[in-house]
Amino acid sequence: MSKTSLARAALPVEPTRPETTAFAADVVAGLTATPKRLPPKYFYDSVGSELFERITTLPEYYPTRCELGILRANAAEIAKVIAAGAALIEFGSGASTKTRILMGAAKLAAYVPVDISGEFLAQQVDALRREYPGIAMLPVVADFVKPFELPPTVQMMPRVGFFPGSTIGNLEPHEAGAFLREAGRILGRGATFIVGVDLVKDQRVLQKAYNDAQGVTAQFNRNLLVRINRELGADFDVKCFEHHAFYNRERSRIEMHLASLKRQRVRVCGECVDFRAGETIHTENSYKYSIPSFGALARGAGWAPVSVWTDPDQCFSVHALTKKDDGPVRAAE
Ligand code: TRP
Repeated sequence: MSKTSLARAALPVEPTRPETTAFAADVVAGLTATPKRLPPKYFYDSVGSELFERITTLPEYYPTRCELGILRANAAEIAKVIAAGAALIEFGSGASTKTRILMGAAKLAAYVPVDISGEFLAQQVDALRREYPGIAMLPVVADFVKPFELPPTVQMMPRVGFFPGSTIGNLEPHEAGAFLREAGRILGRGATFIVGVDLVKDQRVLQKAYNDAQGVTAQFNRNLLVRINRELGADFDVKCFEHHAFYNRERSRIEMHLASLKRQRVRVCGECVDFRAGETIHTENSYKYSIPSFGALARGAGWAPVSVWTDPDQCFSVHALTKKDDGPVRAAE
């Protein structure tokens, strides 16, 4: 038997698609690490994306409401940083609710929603095409934290990046810096970047936002295990894992975990994963910044802060950044 067929035989699930193999490898690596962790990008299958949309409408979850309020109240001013005929490139577009505010206020030629959930993205783009027939819709299915390329037609247009929802807070600060730098490369010379960033605030407000009374955030967190069971044939007893979210003040971040309610063993991709009672899987962080601390992060990654808008309670911030000088234009460009 060849090496390949041996490896194949050991896998419980047919490695049909390359995405499935990458998912399996990431899950096994995360669950055999100490402490255990899982990459948050896998939250967003179609069930996860729908649950996340529900989170954004919960009374306790202030970020979406605050950010929408900021965008609505300042739409005309924000539109001034978006050149007429620009392409708007959104990193992790989801349902594009916030984008519709910018589409109404600015004169866009194209919209490039970039999202990892291909199925969800296709549905959203269908609706957008009907609503905005004058804007070219150019979806890109990609994990936006990895390098990807823009559709060639937008290279000729002014380019504006849009990264709302404080998704930047879901990256480690050093990753956030690397992401901002890479986004600068993707967007190119002269680009503008509009970034939504959640602000440091009263711990009780933060705590409640990630522990909603209806338990939707808990369901969203546990859906990761449901997905692993379905797609990778694992046997997680999902009701034996509990949602834990708390504020880590030293690191200015909310941490989300799934805590094992008892001592148990789970089989995942042919591996046995043992849990102590109370042991957790760290599933996500949500870093909170101050306006100056985010400005410093952006500057360090090649962007100059030009404007910042906030709500009256200073819950959330929307930053406009422009790309710092990239040096002399080369003849080849
Ligand atoms: N980036 C947002 C935040 O950190 C949205 C988000 C990501 C979120 N994962 C989440 C919200 C899980 C609630 C629960 O707040």
